Amino acid sequence: MPYLFHLGRETEICIAELQSFYPNLKSFNVEKYGFALVEEDVNPGIIDHLGGTIKISKIVQELPKKMPVNFTEIIKKEIQDIEKGEGKFIYGINVYPSQTNLLKKLLKAAKETLKAEDISSRYLNQDAENLSSAGSAHCQDINVVFGEEKNYLTETIAVQNIDAYSKRDYGRPKRDGLSGMLPPKLAQVMINLAKPKKGTIVIDPFCGSGTISQETILMGFDSTAYDISEKAVFDTKINIEWFKKEFQPKGNLLEISQKDATKLTATDYTKFGKNIAIVTESYLGPPQRHIPTPTEAQKTLDDLENIYLDFLKTEIPKGTTVVLAIPFFNLKPSPVILASLIYKAEGLGYSIPALTQKGLFYARKNQIVGRMILIFKKEVPAKV
Ligand SMILES: C[S@@+](CC[C@H](N)C(=O)[O-])C[C@H]1O[C@@H](n2cnc3c(N)ncnc32)[C@H](O)[C@@H]1O
Repeated sequence: MPYLFHLGRETEICIAELQSFYPNLKSFNVEKYGFALVEEDVNPGIIDHLGGTIKISKIVQELPKKMPVNFTEIIKKEIQDIEKGEGKFIYGINVYPSQTNLLKKLLKAAKETLKAEDISSRYLNQDAENLSSAGSAHCQDINVVFGEEKNYLTETIAVQNIDAYSKRDYGRPKRDGLSGMLPPKLAQVMINLAKPKKGTIVIDPFCGSGTISQETILMGFDSTAYDISEKAVFDTKINIEWFKKEFQPKGNLLEISQKDATKLTATDYTKFGKNIAIVTESYLGPPQRHIPTPTEAQKTLDDLENIYLDFLKTEIPKGTTVVLAIPFFNLKPSPVILASLIYKAEGLGYSIPALTQKGLFYARKNQIVGRMILIFKKEVPAKV
């Protein structure tokens, strides 16, 4: 049976990340919820490597959209069939898109079924709401999904470990709110977009406090990191020492040193091996003290463009994938982005996969400066 991946808020980025693992996935949205349907074997452990997937569920039953479906009967049967284990049976039911009345009916039907079987049980849905990730992680979690072409009954097999992400983010000894720090989830997504293979060294030339290196070594790859700021280099060293103690990552940080990313040489890139990927969040510009006008926002981005171009002009070896996060202004009614970087990078010998021709966008709710993620592939040898 296939699987449903329940995606995070920025569904486009989440799908792009998943495509690195499952190129044939099909995706669909149900109101604000995004899903990807994967028709191959899935190891539940993959959830720890995916920043953009909230939970994975196994499809137990697939139903055509047009047939009238009695979900109350379906839930009763599911509850009878499901493996209960020892002790009190703790469960939860979710309906996508949310439908409070239907959810109440399903919870009632499940409770009655369990009572009739004399099974001691409790459900975690408070106020007849869908469960949060924390809830889904602590119970037998069942989902009813009204999809575009089909409806699905699914059982959750893996849930993102939000406590671990939170520790990897807020638990770090050194944090730098001023320059900006990537959320570990987004760092993971960016690393996955580079599709590193066994032995790939992930290089972060604008490392800041070291989020990309930390997530790289946790995923089992080695990393090197540079930053122009002495403080950032120091912070990254402290953070990675802490990270190694707390998480015992399989990968290593091979080097962290103070360098200007616009002056890196071929040796800086390849001294530990030729199999490299560059994953980085560049300088985001000065902190914004007020909401800029679209003209001010565009000027800020235009002023930053040279640093990105100068970095792309460095001796990046042919064939290297560069996943680059730069700022965009999440203004209403339309965002302000640095569109020119895309064709200018093409002029420097980079190709851009169709997937990110327009960029992938990530912004927290109400965040003015979001991240635009671009993927480049160096097609011509570097001019030395
Ligand atoms: C947005 S921060 C990176 C944050 C990082 N991704 C993290 O999660 O901690 C950008 C970093 O670029 C660095 N930077 C700015 N100009 C640079 C340059 N020319 N070469 C290298 N680093 C530079 C800044 O010192 C800053 O630490």
